[in-house]
Amino acid sequence: MAKVIAIDGPSGAGKSSVSKLVGKALGFLHVDSGALYRIMTWQVLVKNVNPEDPEAVAAFAPTVTIECRPENGAIAYYVDGEAPGERIRLPEINAHASQVATVKAVRDKVTDLLRGMTQYGDLVVEGRDITTAVFPDSPARFYLTASAEARARRRQKEEVEKGIANQTAEAVKASLLARDAIDSTRKYAPLRKADGAIEIDSSDLTLDEVVALVLEKVHEAFG
Ligand code: DC
Repeated sequence: MAKVIAIDGPSGAGKSSVSKLVGKALGFLHVDSGALYRIMTWQVLVKNVNPEDPEAVAAFAPTVTIECRPENGAIAYYVDGEAPGERIRLPEINAHASQVATVKAVRDKVTDLLRGMTQYGDLVVEGRDITTAVFPDSPARFYLTASAEARARRRQKEEVEKGIANQTAEAVKASLLARDAIDSTRKYAPLRKADGAIEIDSSDLTLDEVVALVLEKVHEAFG
């Protein structure tokens, strides 16, 4: 049976950087579940489905085919043979992803894809409902958090470095808090700290310190 490390938390808590390094250290494939919700949102917008209409999004969801395959230490995604790249990180996707992710048909589709990935090997999966709904039985579950200010700072730096947007820290913080609110109050699989998950506040920790902490707990969990 494949081992799964599950890491949840709000936007900008450092899940991606931590998960990638933990995956690399252990030889586990990195799985970005948020990218799957972003791909669904991208497709909703490209195909002119109204992202604010849950019934239309639910009807559209099964028509999207996402191919998943292991590549360079991670699971890579393709839609009609095309890699989505950075276009799924644009502010217009940020603005609608949380709404699209409230739709049960979308969540069911992404959950099935994620569970199917264990066929490729051991995984480190990051998201919002991995510890509570997708892999609730994993012995290595983490809730990674940080202050809203720290999270906004990191996200803004990332956007500028990647050249995908040039928003102020205030605008990034507002968008991030709006998504947090939707993610943590939605009906299906809301973001919350799972019972038994290890909580790490990364506000005042370096990336290396968080990774070391996670690795220590993972070794304890898997023996
Ligand atoms: O992690 P991210 O910012 O790329 O996630 C994009 C959106 O996807 C986020 O606003 C909420 C949703 N999401 C989710 O509902 N469940 C997950 N496991 C991962 C992401």
